[in-house]
Amino acid sequence: MTERTDLTLDPQNWDALRQLGHQMVDDMFAHVQQQRERPAWQPVPDSTKAKFQEGLPYRPLDAAAVYADFKEYILPYPTGNTHPRFWAWVMGSGTPLGALSDMLASAMNPNVCLGDQAAVRVEEQVLNWCKELLDFPETASGILTSGASMANLTALLVARNHQASGDMRQLGLQHESGQLVLYCSTETHNCIRKAAEVMGLGAASVCKVPVDEHFQIRTDLLELFIQNDIAGGRRPFCIVGNAGTVNTGAIDPLDTLLELSRKYGLWFHVDGAFGALAKRVPEYAEALKALEAADSVAFDLHKWLFMPYEVGCVLVRNAAAHKATFDQEPNYLLRHERGLSAGDLSLGDYGIELSRGFKALKVWMCLKTHGAFAYLALIRQNIAQARYLASEVDRHPELDLLAPANLNIVCFRYKRPDCDPAELQAVNREILMRLQEEGIAVLSATVLQGEYALRVAICNHRTRQEDLNLLLDAVVRIGNAVVDESLFLI
Ligand SMILES: Cc1ncc(COP(=O)(O)O)c(C=O)c1O
Repeated sequence: MTERTDLTLDPQNWDALRQLGHQMVDDMFAHVQQQRERPAWQPVPDSTKAKFQEGLPYRPLDAAAVYADFKEYILPYPTGNTHPRFWAWVMGSGTPLGALSDMLASAMNPNVCLGDQAAVRVEEQVLNWCKELLDFPETASGILTSGASMANLTALLVARNHQASGDMRQLGLQHESGQLVLYCSTETHNCIRKAAEVMGLGAASVCKVPVDEHFQIRTDLLELFIQNDIAGGRRPFCIVGNAGTVNTGAIDPLDTLLELSRKYGLWFHVDGAFGALAKRVPEYAEALKALEAADSVAFDLHKWLFMPYEVGCVLVRNAAAHKATFDQEPNYLLRHERGLSAGDLSLGDYGIELSRGFKALKVWMCLKTHGAFAYLALIRQNIAQARYLASEVDRHPELDLLAPANLNIVCFRYKRPDCDPAELQAVNREILMRLQEEGIAVLSATVLQGEYALRVAICNHRTRQEDLNLLLDAVVRIGNAVVDESLFLI
């Protein structure tokens, strides 16, 4: 048999694939346009799950048939975060233009690591815009990441290496004397603990400081813990402040955290996964002011900038410390004075990953097209919606607000005087599930001071006030029905 030497994955029939591509664009636009008419979420049927057990396809299938499978088995079962009534966890809702930009980025297919290529410049420009949005200094460095978890990890690696007594890259942690300690509130997102584990510090190096009744870190206790640790021979190295906690949206007193970090010579990092972007909203400018003086800040663009998944960002004030944590020039990555490897900016020198996709393009296209003011207005709109929801909950006799409404987050529950706490928890769990299963709205849940809470986080440019009214009615209706059913069972 003679070997073929002309194999390729380019289509044999370009026109047919182009036509299919046009069909896909039409279908996706119709899909996004009609999402309000669909359920906010629906479970994946067992028959559909079975489709994903099929083995590796060795033989080719027609692209149109594969696309038909996508439409039948995949497209109808998303998380639901493009829907106007999706408010679970903290998930942004994406945009049609963002989706198109991702398609362009894939077609162009650059590896945005190094070299004299436009994609590196686009990311550099996007990073500069991010600095401007947060009033961070122009001289700061940064990198786009997959999300805030990776952005926080990247920042904490810089903090650890910069604060270490020895050459951390060469000698590692075992040459440090005394345990390095990082401080944050008990309300801090788990990715900080995960970062400490991944960094080899261990979860024991994360000192979780209790919060007050507003879910903000107790700075009096924080200072006490730092002093005790110093007296005990441990090595405080970093304070992590929250610009919007995941549970309630609380903003730690960042100015006091900044002062304490300066007083004790610690790195000050801010996890602003969603809240950082509220810095330009006048009502939050004061609370978030100290963010601009932080040593590093992590935040997501796939949350409150509504970019399609996935894209986060880390900014580091001390660009030299940032680069010193990750830079490298092995033989196979030699830079040259001319040619492709001649670019003066190697993004691979600012993060863990070498191969990197063109995440910056969607941010670049969407910010240019919609303008930053539109995003700030939408953030403000979501905050106003959260306030509206909280005030409606507050004045409803069958609903209970469980935390002050901060930023875009509202935690509440359905209540009835004839239910004990365990029954109330069971009823609220059932409300959460029926809201999802009936396709009405997608909320998530959390536990606040021992109480099970329904949690609404609005990172959604499609939500309208009527959606929130619909939610309120549905929670009360389902709550009453669940209680009536259980009374009937007794
Ligand atoms: C405050 C906070 N930090 C970090 C994260 C992690 O972000 P990501 O899921 O983008 O990794 C989240 C996610 O919701 C968050 O709310």
